[in-house]
Amino acid sequence: MNTEKLTHALSTLALGPICYLTCVGSTNLEATRWVEAGAPNLSLVVADEQTAGRGRLGKKWYTPAGAALAFSLILRPSSIGIQSPQRVSETSPTFNLLRLTALGALAVSEALLKEYSLLAEIKWPNDVLVQKRKIAGVLTEASWQGDQLTAAVLGIGVNVSQKSLPAETQLDFPAICVETVLGKQVERVDLLYSILEYLLEWRGKIDKPDFISDWENRLAYRESQVQVIKSDGSTLSGKICGLSPEGFLRLDLGYGEITSVKGGAVSLRPVNQ
Ligand code: BTN
Repeated sequence: MNTEKLTHALSTLALGPICYLTCVGSTNLEATRWVEAGAPNLSLVVADEQTAGRGRLGKKWYTPAGAALAFSLILRPSSIGIQSPQRVSETSPTFNLLRLTALGALAVSEALLKEYSLLAEIKWPNDVLVQKRKIAGVLTEASWQGDQLTAAVLGIGVNVSQKSLPAETQLDFPAICVETVLGKQVERVDLLYSILEYLLEWRGKIDKPDFISDWENRLAYRESQVQVIKSDGSTLSGKICGLSPEGFLRLDLGYGEITSVKGGAVSLRPVNQ
């Protein structure tokens, strides 16, 4: 694969310029640099291998050569329904980056369903699960100029072949890959095409109430007991009862109280699985 071949393979999608890299630290970092150099809306960075792939909460994301999908899409604010965002906090209701992460996870789950008949769920806020194991992850990062959002970088990693999975000892959640579930080889470029197709299609729905219900319908552990772990190590236990209109996770704490968990530095674990 090279930039020319990939540009040709994706030419029927309304994307900006495409950059294919055989090996890079992180496609998100590369895309962020490209944002600063003036990348147009919907520019795409794809890599075969990442040596410093970034996961959420400062974790590493493993992308060995020839085994996974790793790409980052640059979205300028006007293309994602963000008019004049305030840099109040990443979890403020006006801040759409949580929805962008969901857009990435929804596009992956839709591509897996429509192209490969795989039922995928979304472990709020950013993991795509198949058979209750993580098959893909989404990392949205924002670029700012003062208080102005200049672009969002939507980074997606998908475990395609068995080689894409790190050793069990390095996992903090069970993982699986597309080829193991399907029992056959998958052309990575076909999967990439399909994910991007759904991303582009659903981008326009991101600020509509339907978007939240589509997301809610794919939530993993709905009506099940989970534990939410916050960045300070404190935890919150409750039953997932859906999403708020902003995409926050609604948890039934069990004594008649329902609370909303905002995005940001939280992770979620099922209880008794
Ligand atoms: C997570 O589940 O923690 C998020 C993982 C996101 C990984 C992707 S791979 C492409 C892009 N580049 C990165 O460095 N990270 C994202």
